[in-house]
Amino acid sequence: MRIILDTDPGIDDAVAVFYLAAQPGVEIAAVGTVHGNATAEIATRNALGLMEFVGRSEVPVAHGAALPLAQPLHVSDYVHGGNGMGDIEVPWALEPPVGAPVRGAVDVSAAEQMVRLARAEPGAYDLLALGPLTNVALALQLEPRLPALLRRVVVMGGAISVPGNISPYGEANVWHDPEAADLVLAAGFDLTLVPLDATLRAIAEHPWLQELAGLPGDRARLTSRFLEYYVDFYTGLLGRRGCAMHDPLAAAVLLRPELATTVETQVRVELRGGYTRGMTVADLRSDPGTSITAPPVKVVTHTDVPWFLDRLMTALRG
Ligand code: BDR
Ligand code: CA
Repeated sequence: MRIILDTDPGIDDAVAVFYLAAQPGVEIAAVGTVHGNATAEIATRNALGLMEFVGRSEVPVAHGAALPLAQPLHVSDYVHGGNGMGDIEVPWALEPPVGAPVRGAVDVSAAEQMVRLARAEPGAYDLLALGPLTNVALALQLEPRLPALLRRVVVMGGAISVPGNISPYGEANVWHDPEAADLVLAAGFDLTLVPLDATLRAIAEHPWLQELAGLPGDRARLTSRFLEYYVDFYTGLLGRRGCAMHDPLAAAVLLRPELATTVETQVRVELRGGYTRGMTVADLRSDPGTSITAPPVKVVTHTDVPWFLDRLMTALRG
């Protein structure tokens, strides 16, 4: 499987990279970065560092959208730390100082890279989108045939029947760029959405975190340190010590679709509501009518969480 990874690393994005890098037969063919958990600039430095850390420094990393399509930038540094990595000292340099050009990124944008790859080999790539969907929306503007050129798209995003994690109804990736998410959800991709409904069931609980902390190896040690920061935020949200493995779960669903129970429905994003902007809306009534116009997508409702957490631990063991 050849994957184009679009990401805003981001603590759980980093864990998803570690998970993917440990899977035989999986090639991260290219990485694009985007604003969200950090600025796009920091996300790019982290993506370059992460790919080097997992021994894949040859994978092209393209710097992506620094701003949402139609709203000001908000960065979730209170969840992921000012450096996107829990404010721990990462083994890669965030040097040269923020503000200087990012060395090492390829000289096309993440959207251009996505379009080039998809055009070069139609049907060869799966897209895994783990951040706001700005790059994918920009790629659609460059190439409206993109839905037919990518084999499959898996998006971590949305909150269908559960509260949001960044606003009452907003899940962070969608809320950071609602216009982009709406364009992507309506575009006609073979798209699987992995929303909070599924990821908030995939909790790394305290005993799992303790086991991780006892593992040898660089990846486990680094993950454990990242998660200390991340757990603090999620402990507030969950009411107990633990954290949601959003992005690694989306990666697992891409690799093993049979892991997931899905419902097929149309999903759009609320773009106007005063309290509900950024909400993902699906009509789940038994007779939905025609209130939501879009091609259907697959929405993940449940996954095999014990299997997933076990595989994730194995991957982090290295
Ligand atoms: C999503 O938002 C980010 O904070 C995480 O990296 C994940 O992609 C969860 O809502
Ligand atoms: Ca992410």
